[in-house]
Amino acid sequence: MDNAIKFRSRGSPRLPGERYAPPSVFLHWVIALLIAIAYAAVITKGYLPRGSAERALSLTLHEWTGVAVLVLVVPRLLWRLIKGAPAALPGQGWLVRTASSATHLLLYLFMFAQPILGYLTLNAGGHVLTIPGLDIALPQFVGKDDELRRSIKEIHETVGNAFYWVIGFHALAALWHHYFRRDDTLRRML
Ligand code: HEM
Ligand code: HEM
Repeated sequence: MDNAIKFRSRGSPRLPGERYAPPSVFLHWVIALLIAIAYAAVITKGYLPRGSAERALSLTLHEWTGVAVLVLVVPRLLWRLIKGAPAALPGQGWLVRTASSATHLLLYLFMFAQPILGYLTLNAGGHVLTIPGLDIALPQFVGKDDELRRSIKEIHETVGNAFYWVIGFHALAALWHHYFRRDDTLRRML
């Protein structure tokens, strides 16, 4: 928990009343949208007939939105580490600050780990992603290995399912701050 608190206040010191900087706000919402699309696409895929073009398209959409999350989370984290984030608003108790830091830390871990696990699942299945229209294949980090594919896929699915709860908790906490505590937590991320 201590580490989580340090993570929150790393970077240049910021005032509690400050808003998140525009690049942080922009990347926060674009990445949230991409994650929502990645989930929606993989759920949709489950309802489509095996072997259909629509099913393949859903999986491709899932894979590319996931890759985009990984690409965008790098500048987002760098921005946060270099420029810092606004300090906790006054009046937030120890429990709220700790829960919020721990959740943010988990969300960052997820935004890196989940696309990497998905990508490795694909590679271990003997597939590479090719940039549409350009015919450029993204690098393959592991060769075809069915045993490895099964294990990584299982972790990817378990983490993906667990994060419905973490993301849900995070979003509900933001709404709780806004509607019940009536503080500026949500406003400073808009
Ligand atoms: C934010 C990023 C991502 C999230 C939230 C996510 C989430 C998920 C979830 C929840 C499942 C399980 C679906 C089920 O239970 O049927 C899944 C499956 C899968 N994901 Fe991802 N994923 C992400 C990124 C990626 C990426 C970047 C790739 C590959 C480039 C990928 C490839 C796959 C594959 C191949 C499956 C198995 C689909 C199947 O059943 O055949 N994912 N993902
Ligand atoms: C997949 C979806 C989401 C992810 C991965 C995510 C991730 C994060 C992370 C890592 C932070 C920490 C600040 C930063 O470095 O950017 C954050 C802050 C924040 N998020 Fe999200 N978020 C998601 C969805 C949402 C939703 C749906 C809401 C609103 C209902 C929301 C509201 C906020 C607010 C208000 C903050 C600022 C919290 C504070 O100042 O303590 N987020 N989010």
